[in-house]
Amino acid sequence: MNPDDVARLHDQYVIRTAGPIAKSEGKVMLREIERHRPRSFIEVGTSSGLSTGLIAHMLHDNGGEHLVSVDLNDRYYRDDSKATGFLAEQIYTGDRVRIDLRSPATSEQVPSWDETFEMGFVDGSHQHPWPLLDTLFLRTRMSGPMFLFHHDLILYKTQPTAPGVGPKYLFDQFPESHRTRYQARRGNLFSLDLTLGTDRLEDAAVEAFWMPWTTLRRMGDEQHDLLRGLLSEHYSPRVVEAFDKSRALYARPPQRPKPSPSASTSASPSASTSAATSAGRSPRSAVVRRARAVASRARGEVRRLVRRR
Ligand SMILES: C[S@@+](CC[C@H](N)C(=O)[O-])C[C@H]1O[C@@H](n2cnc3c(N)ncnc32)[C@H](O)[C@@H]1O
Repeated sequence: MNPDDVARLHDQYVIRTAGPIAKSEGKVMLREIERHRPRSFIEVGTSSGLSTGLIAHMLHDNGGEHLVSVDLNDRYYRDDSKATGFLAEQIYTGDRVRIDLRSPATSEQVPSWDETFEMGFVDGSHQHPWPLLDTLFLRTRMSGPMFLFHHDLILYKTQPTAPGVGPKYLFDQFPESHRTRYQARRGNLFSLDLTLGTDRLEDAAVEAFWMPWTTLRRMGDEQHDLLRGLLSEHYSPRVVEAFDKSRALYARPPQRPKPSPSASTSASPSASTSAATSAGRSPRSAVVRRARAVASRARGEVRRLVRRR
């Protein structure tokens, strides 16, 4: 496979709404796979299977044998009439690389598997701290070059709200000596060299856990305990402590606005508060809704400006 093949296959199979890698990012991945020649590769976030199929081709020509791709959903997340990864085996029809699609599955399962992976690509949930957790769990089963790509470093700049900031927090905490950001797609793809010592990895992990979480709010205690158990099994107490403290700070369910006492005591509510209370909502929630509507209009305007540039 050469860079032109990446471009040709990408043009042929890409579905823009599937959150796919860009052609230029595929070419970077090819270059690194040629350099490291991994026998085994793990991907988190299969989606349509575009990146999976392309990676399989890259491995085929570079000594690769096994490609595992995991996804939270067993149905393609944009169209549940299709199986997750449905494109992978259309794109790669060779027989040298075994493609193993595992879904529903997440990186939490990886530490219990008995295989190892020399290289990987994380493109699952971009909400913090998922990219960090994916990195920590995958590393337990990585060997050789221990080279891990991450996607969507600049997502936080292009999303209307900012939950997809996980790759950015992770990248920023990693030592410069063990991270590489590529120019493709305005610096959206980076890689981590996980051969750095466990101490240095844990320094980065502790710092990253402390950054405000943008997900896991809806996750139940049982799930949190599972993540914590895995961290305690594979990492030192300071990592678990950072997870626990940040979880206490950031993983609480969103607060519901308290009903304002003025809703029941005010003799003559204004038209808008009276509409809110008659709908069974507090005036405060009406204010919150108006603020959200203003913010939403502002985000729409920013998106339009970004598109025009
Ligand atoms: C952006 S898409 C992946 C695109 C794909 N890598 C490509 O380039 O063609 C993200 C995928 O991650 C999956 N996902 C979301 N959260 C996940 C998690 N915590 N673990 C594994 N997969 C996850 C979604 O179901 C979705 O299919």
